Amino acid sequence: MCGITGIVTRNSDNIGELLVKCSKKLTYRGYDSVGVAAVRNGIVDLRKDVGTIEEVNRLLGLSTMRGDRGIAQLRWATYGAPTKVNAQPHFGCEEVFYGAHNGNIHNYVEYKRELIETGHIVRSENDGELCVHAVDKYYEETGDMFESVRRSTHDLKGAYAYAVGRADEQEIYAVKMGSSLVAGIAGDATIVSSDLPSVLPLTNNVIYPADGEMLVLTPDDVKVFSIEDGERLDRHPQISTVDAGAAEKGGYPHFMLKEINEQPKVVQDVMGILEGPRNEEWLQLLEEASRHYIIACGSSYNASIVGTYYFNRLAGVPMIHAIGGQFQPMYGKTMDEGSLSVLVSQSGETKDILNVLNLVKTENYGKTLGILNVIGSTLMFQADSYIPMACGYEVSVPATKTYFSQSVIFAYLAAKLGERNGHIDSSEAKSFIKQLQNDLPRLTQVTIDRTGILAKNLARTMMNVKDLYCLGYGFTDGVAKEGALKIKEICYNHCEGMYSSEFKHGPLSIVTRDYPVIFVTTTEDSWMVINHINEVRARHGRTIVVGEYEETLQPYVANKLDYLVVPKSDALINPLLDVIPLQLLSYYISVDLGINPDLPRNLSKTLTVD
Ligand code: M6R
Repeated sequence: MCGITGIVTRNSDNIGELLVKCSKKLTYRGYDSVGVAAVRNGIVDLRKDVGTIEEVNRLLGLSTMRGDRGIAQLRWATYGAPTKVNAQPHFGCEEVFYGAHNGNIHNYVEYKRELIETGHIVRSENDGELCVHAVDKYYEETGDMFESVRRSTHDLKGAYAYAVGRADEQEIYAVKMGSSLVAGIAGDATIVSSDLPSVLPLTNNVIYPADGEMLVLTPDDVKVFSIEDGERLDRHPQISTVDAGAAEKGGYPHFMLKEINEQPKVVQDVMGILEGPRNEEWLQLLEEASRHYIIACGSSYNASIVGTYYFNRLAGVPMIHAIGGQFQPMYGKTMDEGSLSVLVSQSGETKDILNVLNLVKTENYGKTLGILNVIGSTLMFQADSYIPMACGYEVSVPATKTYFSQSVIFAYLAAKLGERNGHIDSSEAKSFIKQLQNDLPRLTQVTIDRTGILAKNLARTMMNVKDLYCLGYGFTDGVAKEGALKIKEICYNHCEGMYSSEFKHGPLSIVTRDYPVIFVTTTEDSWMVINHINEVRARHGRTIVVGEYEETLQPYVANKLDYLVVPKSDALINPLLDVIPLQLLSYYISVDLGINPDLPRNLSKTLTVD
């Protein structure tokens, strides 16, 4: 949530252009409002308004701004409505200090009151403004920018990162206190940002500060300091191998469609990693734990539900799954030093997940295994071990390829664990892994090709549907929930994902003539799902089926278009493929409704707040 970019450069002609170009890469973090503060000859030019970066740039000419340093911010509104006054960056009391943050300041109410009582002019309802005032406050006392930034962190409680500058000082300062931050050193400029994609247009020479560290940027260098004692830390930049081109649409109309189409390659890449040298480390963690938890949010959680079925079936290991925010109150007291927490997060920055990581560490509740996509994320640095999802950048806000990769990772780990603990025969494990490696990339491609057109046609018949259910059974439990999440997220329709045998325990009462219910099934569960389909058909509901073609299912699909048929595969491969037509269906409904699926309203891809 929210993205900040700060640049210090020798070339004062194009600061606006650079900030716009780099900040655009953070659009997935927030698109409620945008602002740029650029400093030229000791004067801060601050322009900001509500809208996407393209809209605000058109309105205010952000890319024409001049100066040799500046800070831009893309906002996802939490504290304060998405209005111009709440847009960031902010000034301090006068137009001298300028700065912006991402994250949350938890003591916003008390601290704002304290600042106002001591004479500060706080203009907005946005917590980011308090970061600038905190520096302003300490500058009054010390007259020293470095010391003021350092001390500001004593006042500000929460998980945040911010960048700040002063009109008459050449440097930009940044702190990392629980929210993501990365810096880069280019030839004649330096950059600090919430995330790597906005650094890469300038340089791949990057520094990852840790929490409790502070950066000072000049055009030539980024110096890292400990916030606690102000001591300089010895940090050398490293070369990032992440492909900057991954954040381009590559000819597709939307990132979401591009990312769906990348799934065959994702399987190959992630299987390469899973079969690689660190495999033993991950399996040992799983093997040695006396109790296993999987914790995730949103799509990552839905993939974790699928994972739980694989661990049960293939490894005989009970995985307790919970959504991030629910974990501590529901399972916190059941943990001990023998526990393994598998923390699943595309961004590796989701606050609900990092809260669990902190709980495990502070209470000594065993080991943590991160499953993450963003290299350089907090989860990557802080988990005991991590498995990369190998997806490259996932730019569109709706997760697709990362959900897919997570499901494959779970299927693979479960089979390997089952082979080692003797729950399944070695031949069974090997055959399943061979299918993941050799057959799944091709089957994924065929599924995209075949169901693309089916989903597009079906979408046209669902334009006026505002309310529906998506039901799964057994392995497709998490798949149906994921399909429902996609439809809610990018079509703005109410779609509830639930277990199909549970539907008759209340929700069935909603069904009237043509009420749509999507059933997602594998070949091994279709005999049971047919019962659930019948219950809806008997009430004249519209039953839509996702699964392999089965003669026994065909009679239950009234309309030919209502059967999204995936290619023939093993019953344990079915749940991996079944999600693809649901991703495509939600995509086409969204586009038909005139929604940009990459940037659904009110959302942000990286949720670094509670
Ligand atoms: O980065 P994470 O995997 O931790 O993100 C979790 C959710 O916020 C995320 O999956 C969200 O539900 C997606 N936008 C859904 O498409």
